[in-house]
Amino acid sequence: MQKIALSLRAKKKTIGVVPTMGYLHSGHESLIKASVKKCDITILTIFVNPSQFGPNEDLSRYPRDEKGDIAMAKRNGVDYVFLPTPQTMYPDGYETYVEVGSTAQYLCGESRPGHFRGVDTVVLKLFNITQPHYAFFGQKDFQQLAVIRRMALDFNLPINIVGLPTIREKDGLAKSSRNVYLSPIERAKALCLSAGLKKIADAVKGGFTNVDLLGDILKTEISQHPDIRIDYIACMDADTIKPLSIYKKGKTLFALACFVGKTRLIDNVVV
Ligand code: PAJ
Repeated sequence: MQKIALSLRAKKKTIGVVPTMGYLHSGHESLIKASVKKCDITILTIFVNPSQFGPNEDLSRYPRDEKGDIAMAKRNGVDYVFLPTPQTMYPDGYETYVEVGSTAQYLCGESRPGHFRGVDTVVLKLFNITQPHYAFFGQKDFQQLAVIRRMALDFNLPINIVGLPTIREKDGLAKSSRNVYLSPIERAKALCLSAGLKKIADAVKGGFTNVDLLGDILKTEISQHPDIRIDYIACMDADTIKPLSIYKKGKTLFALACFVGKTRLIDNVVV
């Protein structure tokens, strides 16, 4: 893959990469479409990265659909699909990891220790393998995007990191590969997450900017379903991903992670 990418660069082709863990949905597809539009060559990577999963997480049961993913790639004009094995990415003797900083301290960084170390490491490896000019990520994983932007800046990577809006189901639920884990009843309950975030956005539009009370709107919405376990609900500075106690126009991130049944879902809004 790296040889191909280097020869494409030698031919002055602009390369876009879309890193994913597969089981693609229209959220991933929006990133693919953006890359195909912007770049001469689009490389889709599919790799369920072991180093970003904790010991009690869903690595072994993470959903997979290689055939469907490749069909979606073809439909959208992807030029290359890179599907390495864990052994290719982490051969015997592998020992070097990216050390993340304060952007990865809170939210998922706090509740999934080592997660962003694994994400940054695999993304840096994928960047080196695919040699992209542009890399496309979703704001659905808002902290991940911030952590990757920080790495690109700190490590002087000559790559444009492009962040794109969250794609949702018609009823508001953020698209996620993990939504397949939800039973129909859980699926219905999960709606309160996006509904609560929408209420925050509407309240801010109406001129309401007390972040504690905005957070309460979300907590109230979710607590309608006492069996949804809140991992975190937090208000953060959207640039630094550090706690925010006073509203900052256009830079106020409300982020949540909740267990609906056994399924951990994340979502966010920036207001
Ligand atoms: P994965 O969860 O497969 O997501 C791949 C990309 O799709 C990420 O940039 C994510 O933010 C984006 N995405 C997921 N759901 C989305 C939605 N509803 N709307 C818009 N974009 C969405 O994120 C990962 O994989 C991995 O951590 C990875 C970056 C590939 C590193 O292993």
